[in-house]
Amino acid sequence: PYASETLLRASFFDFTALASQPDDIAAHARYLEDGLLTLREGKVVSLESWEIAEGRVDAATVIDLRGKLIVPGFVDTHIHYPQTEMIGAFGEQLLEWLNQYTFPVESQYHCPDHAAQMSAFFLQQLLSNGTTTALVFGTVHKQSVDALFHAAQLLDMRLIAGKVMMDRNAPEYLTETPEESYQDSRELIERWHQRGRLSYALTPRFAPTSSPELLEKVRQLREEFPDTWLHTHLSENQQEIAWVKSLFPARDGYLDVYHHHQLTGKRSVFAHCLHLEENEWQCLHDTDSSIAFCPTSNMFLGSGLFNIKRCWQQGVRMGIGTDVGAGTTFNMLQTLGEAYKVGQLQQYKLSACEAFYHATLGGAHALDIDDKIGNFNPGKEADFVVIDPAVSPLQKLRSANSKDIWERLFVMMTLGDDRNIAQTWVSGKPVWQRDREEVTA
Ligand code: GUN
Ligand code: ZN
Repeated sequence: PYASETLLRASFFDFTALASQPDDIAAHARYLEDGLLTLREGKVVSLESWEIAEGRVDAATVIDLRGKLIVPGFVDTHIHYPQTEMIGAFGEQLLEWLNQYTFPVESQYHCPDHAAQMSAFFLQQLLSNGTTTALVFGTVHKQSVDALFHAAQLLDMRLIAGKVMMDRNAPEYLTETPEESYQDSRELIERWHQRGRLSYALTPRFAPTSSPELLEKVRQLREEFPDTWLHTHLSENQQEIAWVKSLFPARDGYLDVYHHHQLTGKRSVFAHCLHLEENEWQCLHDTDSSIAFCPTSNMFLGSGLFNIKRCWQQGVRMGIGTDVGAGTTFNMLQTLGEAYKVGQLQQYKLSACEAFYHATLGGAHALDIDDKIGNFNPGKEADFVVIDPAVSPLQKLRSANSKDIWERLFVMMTLGDDRNIAQTWVSGKPVWQRDREEVTA
């Protein structure tokens, strides 16, 4: 009917509404074995069964992807783009890992050419793994974030990012004064925030690299730009927590360092949250703050086990993060597989249904953008992944022995990786196709 419509025929899986308990998720799951997705101007018009749509569409205009499974684009709620080149660094836990590996690598992002090259590489990694939206740490250098936003803008990706703010307990080449931090962050907000699909996150690295004066500048920016995000780390490692308590003796624990400066709330995203105290869980709930659960990072750095069950019980928003480069993969399927194992170590059974919810609509909710992305409801932005459910001989064998969609999804998060990502679509356009091996705007 409309020349500008795009029609795709395939199997589809998504969640049509939010859930407040894990047992409610399945009731909102939608699986269409043979469906038709209609897009116009980068947005979803409809998702229907093929049987219902068949009569009204001209078959010649349909992109036939039968045999593939289309799911909403994955949402990565915590990742560091300037750590891409040091992923998999041996032997250390958090604080030593930062000093030995992370800080030296981040220093290179003062160079705009390096930042531009790595931004392109980073976005290619996200897209080739089916991730269409991420909440991203830059470095302390404003040019790192300029480069990333510029690259994301060319692809029309929904991306939230910010420059790191830090003024102590890091090498001199990565620290700034609170005033410089304020000015540079402000400049970036004015240049990029809410420009197209880009948004800005105020990004104090974590409490140990923040003076009270710096946190006061963050508070001021949040007051001046109340629709920005706040992105930081919380309660990841026991030594880190003890250090925070000694640096901020007047505060009532780690989270209170942020809460005292009014940095909790909707659109505040705290990565890790592994060793929270009772009152901290309560504060996250009361302020409607969000958690980024980063299973591969938590296992790789030996940080601890995230308590998924407790998170549901407390009614705290949660999404999945890869946390590259402490995390060991950009791939959400593999990350979900690791999340399952974190659950196993605590007698929590993370179903495929729940896992895919966190990776899509739940993650969008954690970032407070579930009105824009996360499923195929009409009007949602058309960001999605075309999955090849079985590519290797082992996957094919196992898939042939799966009884239903739940088992197939579970096997995908156990055996799947980037080979399963056949195509990635952003704003209604294919930007990654596995057989071409390049990102095209
Ligand atoms: N805490 C402060 N900085 C970092 C970082 O870069 N990665 C992780 N995993 N934790 C942090
Ligand atoms: Zn991190």
